[in-house]
Amino acid sequence: MVQEFNRIENVSGKLNLPGDKSISHRAVIFSAMADGVSEITNFSDGEDVNSTITCMESIGAVIERAGRSAKVRGKGFKKFTKPSSMLNAGNSGTTTRLLSGLLAAQNFESIIIGDDSLSKRPMERVIQPLKLMGAGIESTDSGTLPIKIFPVKKLNPIDYQLPVASAQVKSAVLIAALHCDGITSVTDKYATRDHTERMLNLKTSFLSGNHKNEKVIYSSKENYPVPKSYFIPSDISTASFFIVLTLLSKNSELILHDVSLNETRIGILKVLKEMGGDIEIQNEKESNGEPFGDIVVKSSKLKNAAIKNEIIPNIIDEIPILSVAGLFAEGSFQIQNAKELRKKESDRINSLCYNYRLLGLNVDETPDGFSVSGEIKHYSPAFESFDDHRIAMALSVLSMLLKDGAKMNKFECVGISNPNFISQLKRIVS
Ligand code: S3P
Repeated sequence: MVQEFNRIENVSGKLNLPGDKSISHRAVIFSAMADGVSEITNFSDGEDVNSTITCMESIGAVIERAGRSAKVRGKGFKKFTKPSSMLNAGNSGTTTRLLSGLLAAQNFESIIIGDDSLSKRPMERVIQPLKLMGAGIESTDSGTLPIKIFPVKKLNPIDYQLPVASAQVKSAVLIAALHCDGITSVTDKYATRDHTERMLNLKTSFLSGNHKNEKVIYSSKENYPVPKSYFIPSDISTASFFIVLTLLSKNSELILHDVSLNETRIGILKVLKEMGGDIEIQNEKESNGEPFGDIVVKSSKLKNAAIKNEIIPNIIDEIPILSVAGLFAEGSFQIQNAKELRKKESDRINSLCYNYRLLGLNVDETPDGFSVSGEIKHYSPAFESFDDHRIAMALSVLSMLLKDGAKMNKFECVGISNPNFISQLKRIVS
């Protein structure tokens, strides 16, 4: 579907955005694992989380949804049942990798498949540590879906150092470890998002003498989830599109309520503030170890600032929209050390560079990043979403700031994380 955008003048008002996608995936998985009924409020309504729900239902969990709330009747320790067909993770890397860790510990065979984009993404990274634990798991020869999982007598604990900055891989190992006698440790020197360890209340220690972010997380049977009530804070990745649109529009002010402020996710706020963004946090609260609060954003004059290597894992999903902020900020925008961007729903380095070239900007693409500078020369572009929700939403914001607007193909992919993106926009733009 082609979506057209007109230039907007101002942003004003308030939004209560749906729950964080990463936390929602985990809430439904941990609820389905627990023996009893859990309640989830402010659940994500995106297609990715629906993929997790469908997979959990296929192995026996009972999930009743009513709008942004859900009631989950979980199965209890190793009580999931063999699915009658292959588990379809759709477009969702988080579903695939977290479920690999869970399914590796069950007493039945299973196969995970996905859509075209997911079928190209690297899965070897999750298979390798699970094999070290003794799992019966394999992918295709090129390390992609389908993943086939065979039951084994038992999984063994391991001490594992994450070779890539991936919270999904970390979580797969920590989830598999919930089924082991003995303690598994995962060393994460990248400080990737820590929802799994917070939600499972896992013991964590910071390595002294090293970078302050380098930490070890411990997981064992003792940490197996129990039924809970989860309130899911609003998704900061979704919020970032509205934050950047407000910063870059004249005479604008927006309040975003109850947004996740998890330290491993607020890199985007730190970078935008460093660029001169007027962003204030109010009414800070916490639920199940996850901090959240209201974000108040006002129009600002931005200036590009150097983006530090250590912050990349914390802004990895926000780089597309951050680069849009960079286009309108003083100086040139540059990102490096972000090769993981090429492994997302699309090759996001290529997707962004392609679209920025359409505007006549100077784009320098490198294996692990890109820089962009110069004046916009071509208006009214036809942007390409590459069927990637975050590229589509970032380019939507850019389109609304161009003097003649723009159009974009395959826009429906926004439904992966935020199916109501357009109606939310309509409530706050004029
Ligand atoms: C996620 C981890 C990140 C992130 C993705 C969600 C998660 O992926 O990009 O959108 O929920 O754990 P990687 O683990 O591949 O870095």
